[in-house]
Amino acid sequence: MSEIIAVYGSPRKKGNTAALLSRAVAGARDAGAEVDEIILRDYKISPCLEIYGCKKDGECAIKDDFQEVRDRILAAKGLMIASPVFFYTVSAHVKAFMDRCQSLWVKKYWIDKTAFGMWEPSRKGLVISVGATRGKKLFDGMLLTMKYFFDTLDMELWDSLLFRQLDFAGDVEKHPEYLDQAYERGQAFVRAVRKI
Ligand SMILES: Cc1cc2nc3c(=O)[nH]c(=O)nc-3n(C[C@H](O)[C@H](O)[C@H](O)COP(=O)(O)O)c2cc1C
Repeated sequence: MSEIIAVYGSPRKKGNTAALLSRAVAGARDAGAEVDEIILRDYKISPCLEIYGCKKDGECAIKDDFQEVRDRILAAKGLMIASPVFFYTVSAHVKAFMDRCQSLWVKKYWIDKTAFGMWEPSRKGLVISVGATRGKKLFDGMLLTMKYFFDTLDMELWDSLLFRQLDFAGDVEKHPEYLDQAYERGQAFVRAVRKI
């Protein structure tokens, strides 16, 4: 079990979000945390098929790599998740995983009958995202999606690192200050997670 888990959500392994997240991981490790890393595109995770096999006990009926990724995330106190903006929301890899977490939502709200908003966060999350354009609302969809995903995981959004006008792989290297910020947030995240 690791204290922090880092989930790389871009299909591009050497892209901008991956570079930022790996700096945050370096910061967290330098601050003394054990960090588990998952590159989502290396896992076979089907989209949710909406069969609601999870209604019985909260266990997703589709058996693939979802269970392993879910368990590694649930074992950690902090989640750092990185996704590029794709059509104003998360990447398909991240979305497929999130939708499978509907099984956790069913467990929390239907089976255990948790009242909406009546739970204490037991984990913290850091969101890292980038987009090619520079619109004011570029990250609105991403943040709303993450907020409800985090709710399902009993997690509060601790902070987000959001950078505009990064498009081609390597664009982030032209902004060493963004990478420094990611490293610093990684370090600070460890302190925040230890306060839970
Ligand atoms: C399928 C797809 C959809 C995209 N949608 C958007 C978008 O809605 N808004 C935007 O600003 N950039 C969009 N982009 C650009 C990416 O966000 C941008 O290239 C980003 O730097 C990719 O991050 P990565 O290197 O971590 O994969 C899209 C790119 C792809 C491939």
